[in-house]
Amino acid sequence: MYALGFDIGSSSVKVALLNVKSGKAVCSAFYPKEEMAISTPKVEWAEQNPHDWWTNLKLALVDVMAEANIDKKDIKSIGISYQMHGLVTVDKAGEVLRPAIIWCDSRAIDYGNKSFDEIGSEHCLSHMLNSPGNFTASKLKWVKENEPEVYKKIDKIMLPGDYIAYKLTGDIVTTIGGLSEGIFWDFKTQSISKELLDNYGFDQNVIPTIKETFGIQGVLNNDAAKELNLEVGTPVSYRAGDQPNNALSLNVLKPGEVAATAGTSGVVYGVSDQLKYDPKSRVNTFAHVNHSNTNNRLGVLLCINGTGILNSWLRKNVAPGLNYVQMNDEASVVTPGSAGLLFYPFGNGAERVLLNSNPGAAMKNLNFNLHTRGHMLRAAQEGIAFSFKYGMEIMEQTGIQTKVIKAGNANMFLSPVFRQTLADVSGSTIELYETDGALGAARGGAYGAGLYATLDEAFVSLQEVALVEPIKENTEKLTQVYQDWKKGL
Ligand code: XUL
Repeated sequence: MYALGFDIGSSSVKVALLNVKSGKAVCSAFYPKEEMAISTPKVEWAEQNPHDWWTNLKLALVDVMAEANIDKKDIKSIGISYQMHGLVTVDKAGEVLRPAIIWCDSRAIDYGNKSFDEIGSEHCLSHMLNSPGNFTASKLKWVKENEPEVYKKIDKIMLPGDYIAYKLTGDIVTTIGGLSEGIFWDFKTQSISKELLDNYGFDQNVIPTIKETFGIQGVLNNDAAKELNLEVGTPVSYRAGDQPNNALSLNVLKPGEVAATAGTSGVVYGVSDQLKYDPKSRVNTFAHVNHSNTNNRLGVLLCINGTGILNSWLRKNVAPGLNYVQMNDEASVVTPGSAGLLFYPFGNGAERVLLNSNPGAAMKNLNFNLHTRGHMLRAAQEGIAFSFKYGMEIMEQTGIQTKVIKAGNANMFLSPVFRQTLADVSGSTIELYETDGALGAARGGAYGAGLYATLDEAFVSLQEVALVEPIKENTEKLTQVYQDWKKGL
């Protein structure tokens, strides 16, 4: 018996196949092999074509099925993880109306700020736990105001994962988690926020029906089964944004536990049972995968948009002959603190921890007689860790204390420089596990379809592969460097 997991990222789509009984990954694949393009028709914009997610999913699935060589009838569930906060719009026929406006697109900030004032900060924060900010609802408002022709044709809006589920099942549905990350959800009334809909002038009918995060949300229809060469009727039984899903993948479900990821964007995600929020919405509170109306489980999340995308930019533009391992080796020769060179990784859209400002990336203190490319590569990784630390200080004010951070052994956590710097500067122990978002989604889907009786059972086989402890001398030094870095914000 097998379970499939799809992870719709912004740099690639990954597919993983899980052997449900052993709890082990059979195989996985991702597409495209070079990072997926994000189009920026205007400087502050970031768009992707939902069809490209689907095409890449199909290509990755072909590789997985070829390698696994199993009977498709033995696949009993599908789970989906997806890049959060995006906006997909479709007409009555279910056709996509415009490219998706994705999470790191900054065009909607002014609409979010205006509605925060108009609805009232007290109401927004105590009910929706956030300012509407630059999230999905504000992106829809941008479409309403700037592309009225498109807006008129909208029958339903979706998050990226809802769209993939729709392609699989033909059913347009969403989750409370999805609505909370779009800032449509009122946690007090436990319903879609009437104030938000009224303020933005949206018709509630554009919002899809709500389904449980775990459970049969739909089944594979004829068209999709044919296109994917899978079995008709296979249940789609879990979906979540990639950050709550990353936490799920690491079995981070209980209040006080903390997960992190460092892909294109980087996130530290703490679970809480309190409806707490940052009054300035620099860190955000959304529904966690196990949240319910009777049992609060919230994810408090700090997001740094410019994380792995900075490292990828450096590889393309500064170290074109090197792969990531070689870049890490070059960075590791330089001592902690990068001889005073400071890097600010903010080149991927408005940064929420900086009050949605978009300062762009920058280096400070570059000395032509002292610094080398190695310093630059190290300073970049340190700058990302400092940005995490900066957000973690804000998270502390919402009650999230971080002593242990769990992360998948993937992306920038593969870099010894990055993970040691993060441990040192945050004073936290980092536990690394052999898992990723696609595998986590497969486990979530298996639980949602009842193949595991409990979530605990789904994670019995999760393996810790490395432990990183802070090093005292580094902590002392880097704390000083971090203070200098902070002054340059
Ligand atoms: C989280 C966030 C990003 C995207 C990346 O709030 O905006 O991490 O989810 O896909």
